[in-house]
Amino acid sequence: MKLKVPQIKKDIFYVGANDRKKQLFENIWPIETGVSYNSYLIVDKKTALIDTVDLNVIDTFLSKVEHSLQGRQLDYLVINHMEPDHCSGIRYIMRLYPQVQLVGNKKTFDILANFFGTYTNLIEVQEGDTLTLGQRTLKFYFAPMVHWPEVMMSFETSEHILFSADAFGSFGTLDGGITDEELDFNWFTEEYVRYYANVVGKFAHPVQQILKKFNGITISTIAPTHGPVITHHINIEKLLSLYHKLSSYETEQGVVIAYASMYGNTEAIAEVIARELAENGIKHIKVFDVSKTHASYILRDIFKYKGLILGSPTYNMELHPSMEALVMKLEHLGLKKRVYASFGTFSWAGKAAKKLGELGEHLQFDIAAPTIEEKGALKDEKFAECIVMAQIMAEKLKQYL
Ligand code: FEO
Repeated sequence: MKLKVPQIKKDIFYVGANDRKKQLFENIWPIETGVSYNSYLIVDKKTALIDTVDLNVIDTFLSKVEHSLQGRQLDYLVINHMEPDHCSGIRYIMRLYPQVQLVGNKKTFDILANFFGTYTNLIEVQEGDTLTLGQRTLKFYFAPMVHWPEVMMSFETSEHILFSADAFGSFGTLDGGITDEELDFNWFTEEYVRYYANVVGKFAHPVQQILKKFNGITISTIAPTHGPVITHHINIEKLLSLYHKLSSYETEQGVVIAYASMYGNTEAIAEVIARELAENGIKHIKVFDVSKTHASYILRDIFKYKGLILGSPTYNMELHPSMEALVMKLEHLGLKKRVYASFGTFSWAGKAAKKLGELGEHLQFDIAAPTIEEKGALKDEKFAECIVMAQIMAEKLKQYL
């Protein structure tokens, strides 16, 4: 098949590919608009490939690599990240280019051996080491736990291009355009946040560490492993600032109300609270039925907004299973710095309200009001408590701005 492989800079070829077949990223997160696995080939005196791709798109990737090399050998494969959405191509590259040298760190090669067996042609790098390709040189910055322990970033020093692995990535395919100058960059705004919340959100401190590392270093291009290549300085600043904000748990004035409801009683409480918040001047109110909306989207908004209110009926003396799943994710993420409230319902024996109340304490949230628990449908006394809860939440949110 005839190919035209785009270049993000002179002799740096984009050899990644779009995946529109996969339903769930990591078999967890919905990707209705797909995802791209980005890989880059630098053709210089030496040739270097930076990361590979997921098995789903391996043929396209290999064709692009072969085409861009134009018969030359591949000298290096730089492995910034060993998660299989980027490392699955390693075995194929090794078969096609058996002399290629794999560049990574000690942790990279531990994972490599466990996934694919022992390789001998390894170049182990340390933090700050460089690899000269000719005109271009790569400098390696370790970024442990952004998103796995072996992650490193490769910085091309002549044009200040940061190959950033998962950091600064996004869901969504690259439909024609590869760089922010070539596509509708604003479309990705929400997907950057969702990707962060779903994939990177647990690792706020490591993200802060890497942001510190690049403080004072000029970055003219960010080339992540997913989503657009960012070349415009305003978009680079936007993205750095977004990562700073998200990893510091900084938020906007708004509330996520996420509830589970079997027959409508818990939902009715959510509606009362939402309305009262609106009457008290809160504009960004996002109400989700956790049985309907995938946690991926709810987490995105939870990362965006300061207020969080959870509600659940008691189900088999526990939380409703859909709420239990969301609560577990919040605990795993170690979400911080939220103004929180909760409510629950039951028919004959309550448990959900207590559990949701405990979550707020466990995560050290600012608790706006005591947990509300109603038996059956909402009645006068608890209705009044809901109104007060919403009013206090609104007041607290206004103080944070
Ligand atoms: Fe895109 Fe952590 O892999």
